[in-house]
Amino acid sequence: MNTLQVAKLVGVHKDTLLRWLRAGHVLEPGRDRRGWRDWSEDQVQHVLKYARGEVSQTIAIPPNDQAIETLKTLDWDFAEAKTNYLTHGLHPYPAKFIPQIPNALIQELSSVGGVVLDPFCGSGTTLVEALTLKRHAVGVDANPIACLVSRAKTTRLTARDIESLRNLSDPLMSLRARFGSGQQPLFAPSGFQDVRTPDSKQIQFWFVPHVITELSHLKSLCLALPSLPAQTLALAVFSSIIVSVSRQDSDTRYVRRDKNVQPGDTVRRFLRALESAIERAAEFADLVEDRFTCRVFQSSVLERPMVGSVDLVVCSPPYPNAYSYHLYHMTRMLWLDFDPAPFKAIEIGSHRKYSKKGNNGATVETFKSEMKTVFGWLNEVVKRHGYCCFVIGDSILNGRTVSNSELLTGVAREFGFGLDADITRHLQDAKKSFNPKIGKIREEHVLIFKNRGKSRV
Ligand SMILES: C[S@@+](CC[C@H](N)C(=O)[O-])C[C@H]1O[C@@H](n2cnc3c(N)ncnc32)[C@H](O)[C@@H]1O
Repeated sequence: MNTLQVAKLVGVHKDTLLRWLRAGHVLEPGRDRRGWRDWSEDQVQHVLKYARGEVSQTIAIPPNDQAIETLKTLDWDFAEAKTNYLTHGLHPYPAKFIPQIPNALIQELSSVGGVVLDPFCGSGTTLVEALTLKRHAVGVDANPIACLVSRAKTTRLTARDIESLRNLSDPLMSLRARFGSGQQPLFAPSGFQDVRTPDSKQIQFWFVPHVITELSHLKSLCLALPSLPAQTLALAVFSSIIVSVSRQDSDTRYVRRDKNVQPGDTVRRFLRALESAIERAAEFADLVEDRFTCRVFQSSVLERPMVGSVDLVVCSPPYPNAYSYHLYHMTRMLWLDFDPAPFKAIEIGSHRKYSKKGNNGATVETFKSEMKTVFGWLNEVVKRHGYCCFVIGDSILNGRTVSNSELLTGVAREFGFGLDADITRHLQDAKKSFNPKIGKIREEHVLIFKNRGKSRV
């Protein structure tokens, strides 16, 4: 039913019903494909009870089974979808999922005003979608780069923040003119203080001298910004260009290769990325109301962070033996003063832990036991009847394929989560598998679990 029909049935004016919604006396219903409110039978009954004075406070109405059926009929390949709208394209991130995945799950499995958690939030894709769909967002990630990017992508810039960021363009233009002139940047451009260039051996190994000078100037400009939101956005943009101007082969290969980065290129890239980020972040701030909050915790999920109670979980967890984020993000961490060692120690799935070279002897049992901790925690955090959605493909361990979806389904069941749907989605051929031992992963599973209550463990 639409809002007018419900108001008529209940016997109130449509504006009254909208006021009850704003005050939180009745819960927001889901939305149809056009974004209009679509009231289910249960929700209408709740409004009727509220109008008769039979309920005085908001009761969470679980999404009905129809939601799962709707999700099963979607085309999950999203082959033609545009994926870098709003702040989504701010920073590269290995294995980030396309925003259409969390968008569909959040729309169907939670209500406006609900709380959506991504316990492996990475670059914050779920958080951005939750906020634009009028939900509160909570993200957890052990990787400090992930937390910086998630915060930057979800920050609500004020007009003043935007102005201070736009004001960077003058100093940046003069830096560019200075460094791009082909002269050796032995001293600061006029009007600039000399900046201290880091003397770390690692930085010298991964970056050529003129890039080190340019990055040092850029970093000091970012840190001099007057507000935390502006600094966060600028530092995320700074982080976004680092691999491209370093000698690190690519975002997912930690080997040295010379790239012929010319003097001035680093400032030019930063300037271009910053201009685009300001526009995107301003658009995001216009769209998302301040009353929808976003909290990002830098923590290992294995420590069961205190995130409060949530309505829905949407995530793509790390795969065993696939990614080594602490390595891929090492050069970024060097510049942002993050220590990679604590993250390396707690990173789940890291290729290094599973490879013979890593000497850590991690096996499929390691991953299983980590997922047990995660589902034990989720059983307490996710409201009863709330959903947990995990997007995951297979791994190769010691030459054998491991079905991570089966593994997760077994673990989830032990901890009170029933499997409501297992949907297969095909990955685009263009999607590179960066770990040659893994080969091309061609499909992944969207697993939808429902919290049925007490854990059996
Ligand atoms: C596949 S990525 C998630 C990508 C995310 N869905 C996105 O769209 O950007 C998995 C994430 O798990 C994080 N991670 C690995 N070990 C973790 C741990 N112990 N606690 C929390 N996060 C962890 C990694 O840092 C990485 O960001």
